[in-house]
Parts: sequence; structure tokens; C-alpha cells
Amino acid sequence: MPTMRPQTLTSTFLSASRLYTTTASSSTCQATHELLPSNLLKTCAPLTTRTFSTSPLRSKLVSPQAETTASKQEIRIPTPSTPVAMAATSATLLEAFKARRSFYQLNKELPIAADKITSIVQENLIQIPSSFNSQSNRVLVLYGAEHDKLWDITSDVLKPLVPAESWDATAGRNAGFKAGAGTVLFFIDTTVVSGMQEKFALYKDRFPTWAEHSTAMLQFATWTTLEAEGLGANLQHYNPLIDERVAAEWKIPANWQLTAQLVFGGRAGEAGAKDHLPLEETFKVAGA
Ligand SMILES: Cc1cc2nc3c(=O)[nH]c(=O)nc-3n(C[C@H](O)[C@H](O)[C@H](O)COP(=O)(O)O)c2cc1C
Repeated sequence: MPTMRPQTLTSTFLSASRLYTTTASSSTCQATHELLPSNLLKTCAPLTTRTFSTSPLRSKLVSPQAETTASKQEIRIPTPSTPVAMAATSATLLEAFKARRSFYQLNKELPIAADKITSIVQENLIQIPSSFNSQSNRVLVLYGAEHDKLWDITSDVLKPLVPAESWDATAGRNAGFKAGAGTVLFFIDTTVVSGMQEKFALYKDRFPTWAEHSTAMLQFATWTTLEAEGLGANLQHYNPLIDERVAAEWKIPANWQLTAQLVFGGRAGEAGAKDHLPLEETFKVAGA
């Protein structure tokens, strides 16, 4: 397989979804969502009448995020029925997924400009799907001294909680995170989730889980695309311990619930070895 420059890979990865512009019959699909149990929801897409454009110009004019809002209760389902010429192939995407690893040895020498990192994170935030396009994800990116402050706060919070004999190890881990150049903090807007629960009572119990799915997708995509640019990153979960301090320091609204912290920086070491369970234990296929 030809090797793509990381920069090319990231931009093709992020632009792939923009090559699809789908206008679904929102009323048909919405009715289907309201009537069917969740295990039949996937039948909504084939039942939906779609007009379908692959023009990048049109995709600029018709932004799904701008046009589709949960408040308007409109639903667009971006599932094109025919393959569309795309810059990124499954092979290039899988290559990026494979290259995404946990890098714990980080430094402050970023291989790309902070502006570029910010725009990659923003593009991920815009493109990552959410149930009913509810758009429950929220993000805060910290660089430099603000990033350092986060890991000082984490250290402050952990110190009285960690047994004295374990403190050196904890402090060492924390110093490793602080040695990075920045952190992406992921949140779920709980107001969006409760709003969806009120609007679609049938799925009341599902919306918190679906919001978790969406934040996880965003975390994975952000991790993968930043590492495609040559950065190293690792995913941390000091929530809920640090929630209050983070909210106070960066004026985070009370309805933003912290879900994860992605520490990033230049690579100062390699990722560790990783094993994989045999597919015989983890995978089944039928009918092909
Ligand atoms: C949902 C999830 C939660 C994770 N939480 C942490 C964490 O809190 N701290 C940490 O150091 N790594 C965390 N990781 C990283 C995993 O340990 C790591 O992804 C896994 O061992 C595979 O290694 P790789 O990332 O190099 O492929 C998490 C990963 C996932 C997917």
C-alpha cells in the first residue's frame, strides 16, 4: 500500500464525510424512529427517501450541522446507497487506526502548529455523529501553561487521596502528562441529553448511553487524527475527581460533564507492545 504523508491522511480522513451530502425525508425517518424499537432503528435508512449529492460545493452550502438540529426535530441520515469517490480508502483509514497508540512519553515539541491542532479538533467535533444528531459533545483544548495547570490541579486533587507509599508512582505518572504540550478535555452536555429524553420518551433510558457512545467516537477520532499528524497522545480519566476544579478554572458550564482527557505532545518514546485476542474468540460472520 502506498504510504500517505500524515498530513494528507488527516485531511482526507476529516474531509471524507464532507464528500457526502445527504438530504433525507426527515418526516419519514422521524416517524420511524418514534415508532420502532431500537433494534429495528437500522431499517430507518433504507426506508427513507433521499436526494443525494456528492458535490463538495453543495456540501459547503448545505451543512448537515447547520441544517439539522434536534430542536427542529429534523433528522438527516448520511447513509449513501452507492459508493462515492473518496480521497480516503478503507486501507488508509485502517492504517491510521492501526497507527493510533497510547504514547505516554511526551514532550512539548509539537510537530505541527497549535492552530492546526485546534482546527483538527474542531473538525472532529463537527463531524462526529450523535444520536438523532443531538450534538451532545463539548470540548475544551488546553495548551502550554493552561495544560500544565490542569496537571497541577490533578496532582493537588490526588495527593490527599493516594496512599503515601503510592504517591511517587502517581506523581511520576502525573509528571508524564504535564510533560506533554496540551490536553483535549471531552464533555457531554447533559442539557442536550435531558432535552432528548423529554422529546423522545420512548428512548429515555438510551440517551445517556448514546451520548457516551458519541463522546467515545469523538475521543477515538481526535486521538487518531492527531497521531496521524505525528503527535503522541494518551487517554486519561481523572473525572469526576477533577470536575469541580476544572469547571472553576476554565468557567465550564454546570451542564458540561467531563468524560475524558486526551493528553498530547511530541513523541519522546515509543508505544508499548500490545497483543490481540484471536479473531476466532471475538468475531463471528454469517451469510457470506
Ligand atoms: C475507554 C478507554 C479508557 C481508557 N482509559 C485509560 C486511562 O484512564 N488511563 C490510561 O493510561 N489509558 C487509558 N486507556 C488506554 C488503554 O489502556 C489503551 O488504549 C489500551 O491498552 C490499548 O493500547 P493502545 O492505545 O496503545 O492501542 C483507555 C482506553 C480506552 C479505549
